[in-house]
Amino acid sequence: MKDIRFYSGENIPLERHKVRIVQKLYLLPVEERLKKLQEAKSNLYLLHNKDIFLDMLTDSGVNALSDNQLAAMMNADDAYAGSESFYELEDKVKELFGMDHFLPAHQGRGCEKVLADLLVKPGNIIPMNYHFTTTKSHIVRCGGEVVELLPPEALECESDLKFKGNIDIDLLKDVLAKDHQRIPYVRLEAGTNLIGGQPFSLDNLKQTSAVCRSYKIPLVLDASLLQDNLYFMKKEDPDCKDLTLRQITKKIGDLSDIIYFSARKLGFARGGGIVLREGPLVVPLKELIVLNEGFHTYGGMSVKDIAAITVGLDETMDMEIISQGPSFIKYMVDELAKRGVPVVTPPGGLGCHLNALEFVPNIPQEQYPAAALSAAVYLAGGIRGMERGTLSEDRNPDGTERLASMELLRCAIPRRVFTLSQVKFAIDRIHWLWENRDLIEGLQFTLEPKILRFFVGELEPVSDWQEKIVRRFQQDFGDSL
Ligand code: F0G
Repeated sequence: MKDIRFYSGENIPLERHKVRIVQKLYLLPVEERLKKLQEAKSNLYLLHNKDIFLDMLTDSGVNALSDNQLAAMMNADDAYAGSESFYELEDKVKELFGMDHFLPAHQGRGCEKVLADLLVKPGNIIPMNYHFTTTKSHIVRCGGEVVELLPPEALECESDLKFKGNIDIDLLKDVLAKDHQRIPYVRLEAGTNLIGGQPFSLDNLKQTSAVCRSYKIPLVLDASLLQDNLYFMKKEDPDCKDLTLRQITKKIGDLSDIIYFSARKLGFARGGGIVLREGPLVVPLKELIVLNEGFHTYGGMSVKDIAAITVGLDETMDMEIISQGPSFIKYMVDELAKRGVPVVTPPGGLGCHLNALEFVPNIPQEQYPAAALSAAVYLAGGIRGMERGTLSEDRNPDGTERLASMELLRCAIPRRVFTLSQVKFAIDRIHWLWENRDLIEGLQFTLEPKILRFFVGELEPVSDWQEKIVRRFQQDFGDSL
């Protein structure tokens, strides 16, 4: 999807779809936003959806459905066992990835749970480009340890590295040479989430696959954000220039041993599944699916979602469709960067990521700078982003904080959900906050869960800084929302 140049000279990522069903949104006055934030204990997960203007928390399960997906949902075949809709999805997955089996799960973490239960034993290590929160929790729960193998440049927020998600092959070789007996699989994540939705290249996947195969260690691909990775491969990867999206996807299948994905992201619907070739893992994995997720022709998904995923996967093979997210993200990143706001570059998939370490350098990591920034962005515009920093880490076993290597506020852009004027509004309010960043201070826990504490933990501001932001907003915007 190319940007469109206006007669005025402006270039914009013009929408190539039309909106046929809408949902009313409410933009609360700023003093009410403060009240809602206080009621939600400064944890944006605890807000009610009706109190949010732009929900940029995630792209998970909240992408717009296409007309063809909706039509397929109406026609889905309902059955506990043997639904025709399942077999259609299985055929689609086999066609795209060229693998023999598709084991459905209720969502991505369902796949992670059964994979960890089967493959991870106490004392194991799992090398990967970078962790994802739920992935790591399941590995650690089974007694394993995550080893991240990104080169240090990939963790620099501002960069012109095109494939920041590339695993460092030399480091991977070292880890395998030293510890291969303790390694049940190597994991590569497409569109690497926690470093800003950054892709890996086809060559990096080829090399990773070759190293794993030389040790007969399976390569597990987390393909939840594959559609963004495919977009960047097609656009920027010299090895993919002459390939269609279908050919690239097939190559990815050939180079991987197990693929799993959250269909809340890949496939524009809800659900997930594990894809693999015939072999000794199929039966034990299927047993765990039946035990944990549901019979293996639905795996916890509704048949409507199963039908929607089949169409969604096919639509993922259309560059015009998968370009919409990354083009809007690039627009938001470029416009914020022009205004001096620290953002992760190059723009990746998933969302626009603000660098909280630079936005609010006065806040120590123990007071959760990215979470404080997320609360401030909600006050500034009713916008809900997602903290991706120290708050998203669980504590070390000795109770000390595990300080994240990046402190990001992710403003996700669910696919085909927002219009460009809404994105412009978000840019404007974040710009205002940047000019007033001296007001933002930290947060502290009042209730801290042990596992995945960011979901339901309760916090409070360390001072009355949130009231100060409201007063400054009222001075600058008068009675405007
Ligand atoms: N792997 C990756 C790379 C993900 O981004 C996610 C979810 C999962 C696994 C787990 O999938 O949510 O369907 O259980 N990411 C969501 C997000 C939660 O907002 O980034 P799930």
